[in-house]
Amino acid sequence: MITIAIDGPAAAGKGTLSRQIAEAYGFHHLDTGLTYRATAKALLDAGLPLDDEAVAERMALEVELAGLDRSVLSAHAIGEAASKIAVMPAVRRALVEAQRAFSRKEPGTVLDGRDIGTVVCPDAAVKLYVTASPEVRAKRRYDEIVGNGAVADYAAIFDDVKKRDERDMGRADSPLRPADDAHLLDTSEMSIEAAFQAAKSLIDAALIKKI
Ligand code: DC
Repeated sequence: MITIAIDGPAAAGKGTLSRQIAEAYGFHHLDTGLTYRATAKALLDAGLPLDDEAVAERMALEVELAGLDRSVLSAHAIGEAASKIAVMPAVRRALVEAQRAFSRKEPGTVLDGRDIGTVVCPDAAVKLYVTASPEVRAKRRYDEIVGNGAVADYAAIFDDVKKRDERDMGRADSPLRPADDAHLLDTSEMSIEAAFQAAKSLIDAALIKKI
């Protein structure tokens, strides 16, 4: 069983890269951000508060990994709520346990998030820290929204990216940071294909060492 851990800030391209890697190697993929989003959506749907740790923990314990779908969890309000409940240790404990169980699937897994290489899977065979400048990440998100035919405000998106970074990197429990043994991949000036090829070289090198 092989685990590949992919961490990085919001909109750095982790999701696309993780899906491509999982497909290329025939591994199972878990976007762990969706577990926080699903917990947040369950609270919002039930009209429950976002600042009650015991209530949020109960929702986290009920999240089903099999049914996670980004298209129903992508709303901005859900992302904001997810980032708030992600600071709660009891919520993280519940979700991390489910994520670790997933990471042990055969023949291998790709997990992406903020704390995979540092907390969830510290023994992962390969750790990547995927990043890009806040300007590039905001522009990518802007292009994605406009590409979908909606109206977007670059300045507001840029502001949001910076705020999300501060919250993810500044929290006390499992803040976003590269693991000491992570390979850094700055995709600011890279195409999706170039990022995939760079990741593939690192993974292939690590797999050869493991055999
Ligand atoms: O990647 P995303 O936007 O779907 O993540 C939503 C929120 O969940 C994000 O603000 C931080 C949190 N998160 C986390 O704390 N740990 C993870 N492993 C994944 C996401």
